[in-house]
Amino acid sequence: MRNKDVPSPKKPSEESRVNRNRREFITTAVLAGGAALLTGIPLGIYVVAPAMGKSIEKWIDFGSPDALPDDGFEMLSYEFLLKDGWQILPQRGFVWARKMPENKFRVFSSTCTHLACNVIWQPETGTFECPCHSGRFDSDGRPVAGPPARPLKELTYKVEADTFKVRMTV
Ligand code: FES
Repeated sequence: MRNKDVPSPKKPSEESRVNRNRREFITTAVLAGGAALLTGIPLGIYVVAPAMGKSIEKWIDFGSPDALPDDGFEMLSYEFLLKDGWQILPQRGFVWARKMPENKFRVFSSTCTHLACNVIWQPETGTFECPCHSGRFDSDGRPVAGPPARPLKELTYKVEADTFKVRMTV
């Protein structure tokens, strides 16, 4: 038997149920929006910034230019940390450089223009050879065999205070 003095639990009215659903929806939307913003900003920096063509230039020192050969190319290795905003990215690789007449030099990127493997200078044949798909480039960096259609990228250099420097674009 029910005591008449004790109020019976009220059923939620239609209006309060709708208000509660609305509050839950708004809370969920705000949380989802915040999460999207938090993950979207770094993702945007990673994905959108490179797509916008942002590149970073750096001059790399390779010591005295006197050490470079004049009868072929020498491999010059580099390693540095690239600070890009809040990211620190290690960069490693090598370029090919040689002396030319009249105190000039030539420097080529080691990156094959087919699918970006590293090309290796072969003194016996006087060509750069790519181990991945047998691409080959002559000593001017022009493609002469295999799938590469574009020449090796020639890099800008300068000599300052007896130091050979090459401009890298990352
Ligand atoms: S990556 Fe060099 S030939 Fe394919």
